[in-house]
Amino acid sequence: MSATQTSDKRRGVVVVGAGSGIGAAVAARFHDQGDRVLGVDVRFKEDTPWEQVVLDLRDLDAVGALIKRLDSDGQGWDVLAYVAGIPGTFDAGDVLRVNFLGMRTLALGLLPVLRSGGAIVSVASVAGLAWQVRADALAGLLDASTGDEVDAWQASQDPGYAVYSTSKEASILFSKKISGPSWQKYGIRVNTVSPGPTDTPILGDFKKSMGDDTIEFVRSTAGRHGSVDDIAPVVTFLASDDARWINGQDIQVDAGVIAGMGVGPYQI
Ligand SMILES: NC(=O)c1ccc[n+]([C@@H]2O[C@H](COP(=O)([O-])OP(=O)(O)OC[C@H]3O[C@@H](n4cnc5c(N)ncnc54)[C@H](O)[C@@H]3O)[C@@H](O)[C@H]2O)c1
Repeated sequence: MSATQTSDKRRGVVVVGAGSGIGAAVAARFHDQGDRVLGVDVRFKEDTPWEQVVLDLRDLDAVGALIKRLDSDGQGWDVLAYVAGIPGTFDAGDVLRVNFLGMRTLALGLLPVLRSGGAIVSVASVAGLAWQVRADALAGLLDASTGDEVDAWQASQDPGYAVYSTSKEASILFSKKISGPSWQKYGIRVNTVSPGPTDTPILGDFKKSMGDDTIEFVRSTAGRHGSVDDIAPVVTFLASDDARWINGQDIQVDAGVIAGMGVGPYQI
């Protein structure tokens, strides 16, 4: 580990997917509370007050180079917020690469780099709610460390099962599985945040891949779609010292729609 203490005492926060939507709101929130933010995205966002790295998460060499840079730049890094994601309307291999493999690679690569007391927070989705019953099926995906291994695993799966759900189940399950060892070995907590439908550019694709009816049912039950400002504070909270005893959790942020579906309503 070569991260050294510098004169800049601010927390160093890497926000992956900071170019749009929830990730941009998360990066802005960390920045506004005084953290040193590095935004990572395939697209460059104009006029941000934080430094940016433009890379494609499907390119694991580029991801590896980023990990190396963070390990050796001497700035000190404390938090990985992995927010990037693409919907199920994209190629299945790309969905698994961006939504899961990129997160797995960065999380494992940065655990020895992040300073003790730090945190990893990944944005999953309520679409990953079946992570527990799918744990056995996902075992091979969780071990895949290359794009080719991910493709080979996906080729053995039922093509009718929504790959977006698979990617988010894997994100939640993987985070839960590494949370114990990462706390014990590195003092780093690992949690996920699972939004319901949220008003961002991705929502139109969700309507296509999940169906207008599903998204409309959630909207009408909750009263409205979520906004990025409903989601971002949960990410920054989980990364903060106030959440220092929360580890290995998935927090659904959807006004309780999924909780209500799971247990049924109670008349009040
Ligand atoms: N908006 C919703 O309804 C909703 C609901 C549940 C979960 N989510 C999750 O929230 C996260 C953020 O999504 P959003 O709604 O803000 O959408 P968004 O499209 O606004 O943001 C996604 C970001 O990921 C980046 N990205 C995509 N592919 C990339 C790649 N190959 N390399 C690097 N960056 C890449 C995009 O450039 C973009 O900045 C995603 O993980 C998404 O799955 C969104």
